[in-house]
Order: sequence, then C-alpha cells, then structure tokens
Amino acid sequence: MIATKNSTAVLEQEAPVNYDKASAKTWDGLSRMAFAANWDPEAAINWNLPIELGNVREGWINILHYFYEGEWQGLEIIQRLMNKAAHLFKNPEMVTYYSTQCSDEAKHLFVFRRYLNKLNSPPSKEKVFDPLVWLATSGPMPVERWILGTFFTETMAGAIFQKTLELPAIDPTGKEMIRWQLKDESRHIAGTKLGIQTLMDHCGPLKTWILRAWWRLFVKLAVKEVRNLKPYGDQVGMDPEYILRKSFAKMAEMPEFKEKFLGDPLSRSFLASEA
Ligand SMILES: [Fe+2]
Ligand SMILES: [Fe+2]
Repeated sequence: MIATKNSTAVLEQEAPVNYDKASAKTWDGLSRMAFAANWDPEAAINWNLPIELGNVREGWINILHYFYEGEWQGLEIIQRLMNKAAHLFKNPEMVTYYSTQCSDEAKHLFVFRRYLNKLNSPPSKEKVFDPLVWLATSGPMPVERWILGTFFTETMAGAIFQKTLELPAIDPTGKEMIRWQLKDESRHIAGTKLGIQTLMDHCGPLKTWILRAWWRLFVKLAVKEVRNLKPYGDQVGMDPEYILRKSFAKMAEMPEFKEKFLGDPLSRSFLASEA
C-alpha cells in the first residue's frame, strides 16, 4: 500500500500510543509476543532422529508422564476459568492472552504425546494432579486460587525444563522439544506474574488473608507431589529440592508477592537455602 501524505500523518500521530509493542508488561503485549513466537510442533523438531536414553529411560519417561498430565490439567483449567477471570477483573485482554496460552499448552501436549509414542510409552491418565486441580478450582474464589496455583506450577515447569537442558543423558530430540516449550513457559510465567499483580491489586486485607491460608495448604501439597518424583529425578540427575529452591527463588522475585505469600516457614526454608 502506498502511504499518502494524510495516512502518514495519521500514523505519525498514532505512533506514541504504540499499541503494537510486544511487551511482557501488558496482556495485549504478551499476546503479541505469543503471536510472534508461534512455532509448528511438527516442523520445528526433527522427529526422525533415534531416541537413545540408556539408563535414564525409565526415570525420564515417568517424569514426562507427570508433565503430560500437568499440561492437560493446565489447559483444562485455563479453558474453564479464563472468561471468569476477565469478568472478575473487568479486563477482556485477559481472554486474548489466555487463549494464546491454551494454544501453547495444546502444542506441548502434542509434542509430549509424539515423543512418548516414539518411546512406545503413550501417556495415560494417572490422576496424580486431580486433587491439586480440585483444590485449585472448586469452592469460592476459583479464579484467584487458579492464578495463585498456576504461579507455582508454571514457575516449577520453567525450572524443570531449564534443568533438563543441562542433563547430558537426555537425547537431542527430547532437548529440542523442551527448548521450544521453555520459550513458551517463560512467557507463561510473565503472564502469571501479570495475573498475580492484578490479583494483589484487587484484594483487600481480608481476601489476602483467606488466599494466603489457602496458598499455604496448596503449596504443602504441591511440594509433596514434587518430592514424590525423587526416585525418577535421581535416575535422570534432577534433584526435586534443587527444583523447589529455584522455583521459590523465582516467585520471590516479586517483592509484594514475597511479602504477602512467602513468609511461612516452608517457603522461607527454600528461600534461605537458595540464598
Ligand atoms: Fe506447557
Ligand atoms: Fe505453561
């Protein structure tokens, strides 16, 4: 299109608003980052390489089964609650952003399934996360509790993926698959931080007190689930305590969240040992 003098003038006038800027600080900005970073799970990964895992095979497969389940539950909860969140916080941009996260999690399911099928160990319903999902979504304030719960799970996924890339025993296809997902998860953590900030801005002292009590219970259960992975973690060289320390340190990067939600002895023990 040829820009006329007038349309150029309009563009120049509108430029300072900069609606197109991809930024992790706004919901629409994050959506634009997601559009720009879109990847094709069939073409981005070389699925023809043989997968050699040696003696980490069993541990790695078991960890991936957990992950598959977590991705599935994550996707299901977003779909259930994203509209409610947008209504609650009166912010339609949230729906656009969370739909990009749905698309990402669906892609993650696709690559995990494809990889596990290649290993002749297709994902099965293990139900380990069902109590956590139930705890995160049933009863009052489901949106707030979902956003809080997601902060833990997304941060933990990021820490596990980062560690996986350092493990010499994981095959190149597995690492490629994780590398692509990690790019998405970094954006999801940024989105969750926006969600957490939105939530804290909307909660008075009483609501914060109730949510903090709930969060402590949730974290206790979630930490227990992560620790249950220790036998598999030992097989691949990933210590759950290391993952937990990294996750808590990452969450504590938000000073207001740290002050309001990470003051309990369990959180403080992880933060102290990471410092
Ligand atoms: Fe994911
Ligand atoms: Fe995610």
